[in-house]
Amino acid sequence: MKLSLGSFENRKPSDVVVLPFWEGGQEAFSFSAKKKLSAPLGDFKGKQGETELAYWDGEPEPRALLLGLGPKDKVSAESVRRAFAAAVRALKKYKKVSFVFPHTASVKAFFEGIFLTNYAFTYATEPQALIDEVVLLGLDKKDTTLLTKFESICQGISAVRSLVNANADDVTPQMLAQTALTLSKSSNLTATIFDRKKLEAEKMGLILAVGRGAAVDPCLIQLSYKGNPSSKEHIVLVGKGITYDTGGLSIKTADGMVTMKSDMAGAATVLHAVHQAAALKLKINVTALAPCAENAVDAKSYKPGDVYTGYGGKTVEINNTDAEGRLVLADAISYAAKNLKPSCIIDFATLTGAIIIALGEEIAGFFTKDDKLADKLLAASAASGDLLWRMPMHTDYRDALKSDIADIIHTGGKDGSAIKAALFLQEFAGNVPFVHVDFAGPTFLTKPKHYNPTKATGFGVRLLVEFLENQQ
Ligand code: BES
Ligand code: MN
Ligand code: ZN
Repeated sequence: MKLSLGSFENRKPSDVVVLPFWEGGQEAFSFSAKKKLSAPLGDFKGKQGETELAYWDGEPEPRALLLGLGPKDKVSAESVRRAFAAAVRALKKYKKVSFVFPHTASVKAFFEGIFLTNYAFTYATEPQALIDEVVLLGLDKKDTTLLTKFESICQGISAVRSLVNANADDVTPQMLAQTALTLSKSSNLTATIFDRKKLEAEKMGLILAVGRGAAVDPCLIQLSYKGNPSSKEHIVLVGKGITYDTGGLSIKTADGMVTMKSDMAGAATVLHAVHQAAALKLKINVTALAPCAENAVDAKSYKPGDVYTGYGGKTVEINNTDAEGRLVLADAISYAAKNLKPSCIIDFATLTGAIIIALGEEIAGFFTKDDKLADKLLAASAASGDLLWRMPMHTDYRDALKSDIADIIHTGGKDGSAIKAALFLQEFAGNVPFVHVDFAGPTFLTKPKHYNPTKATGFGVRLLVEFLENQQ
């Protein structure tokens, strides 16, 4: 998508110009366009997300799209994003579109509403139409640097969405490793890949167990950015990278399996968040760790009832091979705690169906014992629009993870199972401040919504960039 800035008065021709109005018909910009419209407003009320195509003469473009922003006193970043999403949806068949910036809106929300909606992913033979060229009217010249930044972040989100939307047969652990190597070509980024041999040498028995049944090897990807070499602060982001989750021998139902190409969203999110930290030259040190494997059904698959040894030597009794995410994460979290001198560890994972039952598909749950980290994440959530809700890390439930044959058993009954998953992961973080984010809901929607034109949303990238920026 080509992007340029201009003023309303001196604008160049395009296919259509988007004119924002408040509910009731008041123009959300400082000149009068109404007088020039052949049928001023007509039925158009300016309700949030309402669109009406109108025609006018003697203007640089033949058409204007009237866009409703809803009530002026209720405007928010989210209402602006959703309104401009509606405009983009209405105009995807046009090539060049000009958008007028509404008074009092946030430049970021305006940009995100447009850019995030102008995304497509399809395997259909007929390609989906997208706007090729966007002109933003009425912004300040000094907003240019901001726009460059937002464009970079939105490109990161698109990249995550495409990795999640794409076939699991294509997005293998090796493909994710190659993605990290490609991203590492940016300045100050280093990628290290632990292939199967290296995982065996390091005794990462849980990643190896989960990946054992697949035709593709598991791997652990490390992508590090050092933007503040003189600081000891080091944030480690761990992302679940299950490229397909059949459930393994504890096999899923046919319906439960259909969306499981999305089970590597955590890996995609942390890799691109670290890449954005580098692209934006943030003054922080941050590492992404992505344990990647396919959880397949095979004669070689790991077995319910057996005990496997994780990195660092903890033994884990397996009672359900469909709880594979916490296993690969456990090895990565132990590795980080023991080797990377982290100031905190935050994992992102499509970990449980239970979190979707609890919070629905628009909100991610997070678990931590650390109130300061919790507050920072909630602040980043509020500022970014990626919705988070703090869940209880209720340590009494730890009893459910007692094994009579190993150090720990990895699942402990249906009730509170998202909490028990968090308690399991906490065991591998040692004394390092730890947060577990379960984003099984918002990362892959049941259908496109608002500014998410595909099921994959790229949830977490905006949140993480905001969080990382605040750590400078
Ligand atoms: N990847 C799934 C969780 C999931 C379910 C994500 C639905 C998105 C939508 C995970 O590996 C899983 O299978 N979890 C089990 C855990 C259970 C066996 C303790 C679950 O949630 O049922
Ligand atoms: Mn599973
Ligand atoms: Zn899974």
